[in-house]
Amino acid sequence: MTGTTRCDRTPAWAALQAHFAVAGKGFDLRQAFSANAIGPAKGAQRFANFSQQAPYVFADLSKNLIDEQTESLLQMLAQQCGLEAHRDAMFAGQKINTTEQRAVMHFLLRQPAQQAGDPAQPWHDALAEVHSTLSSMLAYAEQVRADDSITDVVNIGIGGSDLGPQMAVLALAEFSVPGKRFHFVSNVDGHELAGILSQLDAEKTLFLVASKTFTTPETMTNALSAKRWFEAQQGAAAASKIGRHFAALTSNVAGAQAFGITTTFGFWDWVGGRYSLMSAIGLPLAISIGAAGFKEFLAGAHAMDEHFRSAPAARNLPIRLGLLDVWYRNFHGFSSRSLAPYHSGLQRLPAYLQQLEMESNGKRVDRRGAALPFDTAPVLWGEPGSNGQHAYFQMLHQGTEVVPVEFVAVKKASHTLPGHHEKLLANVLAQAQALMLGQADAGGHRDFPGNRPSTVLLLDELTPASLGALIALQEHRVFVSGAIWGINSFDQWGVELGKVLAKDVEARLASGDATGLDASTAGLLQKLRP
Ligand code: F6P
Repeated sequence: MTGTTRCDRTPAWAALQAHFAVAGKGFDLRQAFSANAIGPAKGAQRFANFSQQAPYVFADLSKNLIDEQTESLLQMLAQQCGLEAHRDAMFAGQKINTTEQRAVMHFLLRQPAQQAGDPAQPWHDALAEVHSTLSSMLAYAEQVRADDSITDVVNIGIGGSDLGPQMAVLALAEFSVPGKRFHFVSNVDGHELAGILSQLDAEKTLFLVASKTFTTPETMTNALSAKRWFEAQQGAAAASKIGRHFAALTSNVAGAQAFGITTTFGFWDWVGGRYSLMSAIGLPLAISIGAAGFKEFLAGAHAMDEHFRSAPAARNLPIRLGLLDVWYRNFHGFSSRSLAPYHSGLQRLPAYLQQLEMESNGKRVDRRGAALPFDTAPVLWGEPGSNGQHAYFQMLHQGTEVVPVEFVAVKKASHTLPGHHEKLLANVLAQAQALMLGQADAGGHRDFPGNRPSTVLLLDELTPASLGALIALQEHRVFVSGAIWGINSFDQWGVELGKVLAKDVEARLASGDATGLDASTAGLLQKLRP
């Protein structure tokens, strides 16, 4: 996309600004839904025009602050910013992660093997490697599933090496192999690991050390403590048993071997940490739901990849959602988006998507490093519904800031308890309705301004395939807004400074040397010393 015009310098951006001033700022959803609404999307038509089916996901965008002109100007913006060319560059395996000179090919992790037959594709060899690693990883997962002597699987990883597998194992718990417990250790805070170790029997435990780089200090510290604990429990037998009780999921196989782990499953530098759930990092999920389930998970994501790759932009759900994000962030000035999954299995989805959105698009410079004059990633946050309703929804309804809400609902429940699911689904509809309709109260306190936007993403059932599709949808919508903003969504330099300083401070905590520190850090350092 080198050479394309910065988005705020395109004619479409100027047209969107003018449209915002005339029709966007004062847009009223209630009016738009009324039978007298002007234009082709009036009344009942609005739902049809602003909703769509994508693979495994139905989306209702009609309660957003958009009309047909907004969408068509946003589509024009996408064209003028070269969105489709950038998308095609990703799918062609070009090195679009320019600061690290890497291709971005997480889509390949879910591409069917038969497509490796085309040697003209630049990723032909990579796809063959993907499938050979997948086969050995799934064979290993099946072996662990069949092994009744392993009762506990402990994933040690952080960020993308933790949030994805944790979120997905929880979401698909209904499909999980009986007789095994899954634990996730991410925090360097030893309380977390110690609490889990205290529940374990070394003989029955499998540790999966998940780290793309195999250098992340939190993970290395936890892995070392887990290994020491295992050695202490097993005594002289430990050395011969590490191979059976520890496996590493990493792109740094040499690092894992140097650490003493011989069972390794690799992946590649073209898989970003937050995009790695469908690589070897997904092993906890593969153990939980089995090889067949994991393949369905990949197939669901692939179906969404194909939709993103080939559906016309105007009916391309990741494109529509990503453009809506730009509309809200840069024209309405909304600084956050709240995610409300109405399924308790999706309780870690907000945390997972938070990394996806904020680590990908929380950037203040363009791909060449020039500062941007407009806002980028919104804050993404949320909790499962209906819990959030009794905590922070107050602010969503009556606070001073508008926060677009994205509801995720699942039509069919997998439990049989009467009355629950109807209530849950009623709450999704009621909340979206209340946000939009509001309620007039001249007296004040019961006044709901309404006109607050929301999107509903609807799955028929929460299955490996639908979860795969939902994840790919979110990955691609983040790609879309990042592409419009002209940023590199695939690096994360912002995490480096803290890592370097933590090393320095750790040494100072031990030595007490506060030389050259600011007075605040020096004061706190002294307080924290024994
Ligand atoms: O520090 C940020 C980060 O690099 C994330 O991007 C990544 O998901 C996480 O740390 C863990 O990295 P690794 O898998 O290399 O341990």
